[in-house]
Amino acid sequence: MIRKLPFTIEPSLLAADLSRLSDEVESAVASGIDAMHLDIMDGHFVRNLGFGPQMVAAINRLTDLPLDVHLMIYNPYDYIERFVEAGADSITIHFEATEDVEETLKYIRSCNVRAGLAFNPDTSEGMIPKYLYLCDLILLMTVHPGFGGQGFITEVLDKIRFTREICDRLHIKKGGVVTEGGEGDPFVIQVDGGINLETARLCYAAGANNFVMGTYLFHAPNMAERVAELRDL
Ligand code: DX5
Ligand code: ZN
Repeated sequence: MIRKLPFTIEPSLLAADLSRLSDEVESAVASGIDAMHLDIMDGHFVRNLGFGPQMVAAINRLTDLPLDVHLMIYNPYDYIERFVEAGADSITIHFEATEDVEETLKYIRSCNVRAGLAFNPDTSEGMIPKYLYLCDLILLMTVHPGFGGQGFITEVLDKIRFTREICDRLHIKKGGVVTEGGEGDPFVIQVDGGINLETARLCYAAGANNFVMGTYLFHAPNMAERVAELRDL
């Protein structure tokens, strides 16, 4: 029997109505999501500004769900400590924005926080295998980072397949751990950007098991219905 790949859903707060922040978080939590995704942007690595440690700390006071912090900033190393203090449960840095990727991932983990590594749609997949052992999740951006509401980039599906194939072939499991017999939970491959029911299905079939969704969830007439529908991918 083929076991179905378990997966998780994270709404991206970037698409929420910030004038009703606590209501938005409350309805996301009530919808049965698995974690909150928080986008941090520095206006340099991406052409937009968004959120900081104070926002992470505020959300941390509103929910017990894990906070997944996506750093779209240069020199992430210098800011890790502040996001850890603010309550981040996982911190994802960008391959393209980080001087010493290995050192930064190790530093994140040394703070007892899960470490993620993100790749832009145009970044070569050849760089991915080296880091699978050093992180807890690989984020494959399915739009060019910086803004919500963009269209899904179909070409990234090949990169998802490539990453899942390597994990399967080399028995790389959750947390980048290698298990000889292949036991253990699957490695986390996250997708972010333009994800809705249809594109989530495509990504899931390609091997993704963590879905970040901004517009599709926060602009929905009924978020809980959408989350329930997604559970049947
Ligand atoms: C984009 C951000 C995403 C964004 C996704 O740079 O990393 O998390 O909020 O938004 P949607 O789901 O609307 O594409
Ligand atoms: Zn994001």
